[in-house]
Amino acid sequence: MLVIIKENYDAMSNEAAQIVADRLRRKPNLVLGLATGTTPLGMYKVLIRLHKQEGLDFSKVTTFNLDEYVGLPPTHEQSYRYFMNVNLFNHINIPERNIYVLDGMADDIDAHCDWFEQEIAKAGGVDVQILGIGANGHIAFNEPGSSLGSRTRVKTLTDTTRWDNARFFEKKGEVPKYALTMGVGSIMDAKELLLLSSGKEKADAIKAAAEGPITAQVPASVIQLHRKAYVIVDKEAASKLSSSYPGTWRSSFTLEL
Ligand code: GLP
Repeated sequence: MLVIIKENYDAMSNEAAQIVADRLRRKPNLVLGLATGTTPLGMYKVLIRLHKQEGLDFSKVTTFNLDEYVGLPPTHEQSYRYFMNVNLFNHINIPERNIYVLDGMADDIDAHCDWFEQEIAKAGGVDVQILGIGANGHIAFNEPGSSLGSRTRVKTLTDTTRWDNARFFEKKGEVPKYALTMGVGSIMDAKELLLLSSGKEKADAIKAAAEGPITAQVPASVIQLHRKAYVIVDKEAASKLSSSYPGTWRSSFTLEL
């Protein structure tokens, strides 16, 4: 694991975007795993700027999103597909056919989840997976207790997560109770992981993920087992870490995992 501590949210976002851009320049047909939530928004903004100003080319990129709410169509403003259109896809040159987001309206959920896993495999696996972290230590919608070997499937959301995400909906009752999500095992198959986090409300989750025991009660802690995992955090999210990390000054291109 390489823990990179940046001064603030913008620096964290820039660091993550520069790593993605570097991998994309080396491999134009990069397979990117994408996340939603407030955390990656800044990184998406930088990637859009690099596309517009420096011609960063997404024409051969394939993307797989981590998760989607069950019951929300892609046109619903709170669906993750809608979020991705507004915050990234509409502003870069990725072909529609290369975009994979789970369908929360799928009739046969199990078959749909199997299909999603097969498409990831056909694409050659995810090269770089972006991750946020829930305050309860979840990654994607793998809530505490999720099997560390799990694959894409339906999960029931915890009350904590529904409360955390209620800020985007008019009423808490509108937050879906279920979601489709890539599994912890599916995420761990990615060749590189970039876990982003900012703000003091995430400090406990980051401490547990990076320095706590590896446990299904903190699904994010499994990243300690990954061969190439970067934890990119701002100072507030890093505030409860007890080890000292060199990441504030070390170039993230130096692999010392
Ligand atoms: C949701 C998403 C996660 C995300 C988490 C944190 O639950 N399913 O993928 O990491 O929220 O969101 P935020 O970045 O807004 O704190």
